[in-house]
Amino acid sequence: MMVTTTIEEDIARDYAHGALEEAIQAGLRRMGHSGTTVRGEDLVGIDQFHVGGHQATADLAEQMGLGPGMSVLDIGSGIGGVARFLARHYGCTVVGIDLTPEYVAVAEALTRLVGPVEGVSFQVASATDLPGGAGRFDAASMLHVGMNIPDKDKLCVEVARALKPGGRFAIYDVMQVGGNQLDYPLPWASTAATSFVAEPTVYRRALEAAGFDILAERNRREFAVEFFRRVKSRQSESGPPPLGLHILMGAEAQTKIANLMRNIEIGAIAPIELICRRR
Ligand SMILES: C[S@@+](CC[C@H](N)C(=O)[O-])C[C@H]1O[C@@H](n2cnc3c(N)ncnc32)[C@H](O)[C@@H]1O
Repeated sequence: MMVTTTIEEDIARDYAHGALEEAIQAGLRRMGHSGTTVRGEDLVGIDQFHVGGHQATADLAEQMGLGPGMSVLDIGSGIGGVARFLARHYGCTVVGIDLTPEYVAVAEALTRLVGPVEGVSFQVASATDLPGGAGRFDAASMLHVGMNIPDKDKLCVEVARALKPGGRFAIYDVMQVGGNQLDYPLPWASTAATSFVAEPTVYRRALEAAGFDILAERNRREFAVEFFRRVKSRQSESGPPPLGLHILMGAEAQTKIANLMRNIEIGAIAPIELICRRR
């Protein structure tokens, strides 16, 4: 019998580690933690799975118009670093949704470990089939997820449905900015079969058609090049950190990072922010 899988199943399988919580616990022990001493900042090397880490999250968040008591949807929440950051720094209630069941379980476990962080929850769901009724959230964030979503129109229609009128949608995705073919593996896809990197115009068109006004757009290429320069120099001095993104990316981590850096340096792709408001 031939077994067929959907693209979303292939993507979730590509991200799955198999023993991620144990690997993170082992990293924490190498950092000298015994379990009860872990704080949110101890996880920053691993729980922000995007170019620029914690700084990129903070830079995006400050454009979202957030305040205490607001409800935020974090789309493709990974192991929960962005959701915990938004809850802690802005006092928001955050629902993180993600396709990869193991990431959702680890996001929940880490939130218990460091906190608990009030008002943060996670569930397995797709960005193109969001849980809950219309107008449930005041704002939405999505960091380095659209590269795995083939249908940007469907994504934007779903996010528009989930947001209240006036709600902001903040995107930070790697987008195609030059004509070059990409080398794989990349951090979000082992092969081109699960990668759907698109030009900013594709996002803009999908967003406007779904009822968003685009308030700001920023190409973060220079920030990314500087980020990778610092990571490289730190690693050449002291090797990979006990808790780093190499744990999430598995055996091909070094090739994934090298391909990403090269593709950014030659101007094929760049991390780009888009800040939008639902009409
Ligand atoms: C590169 S990681 C980024 C995680 C997180 N946003 C962060 O910045 O730390 C991409 C995440 O998107 C999730 N993902 C990919 N496609 C998705 C989809 N259609 N719906 C929900 N999550 C998705 C993956 O499971 C993975 O956790």
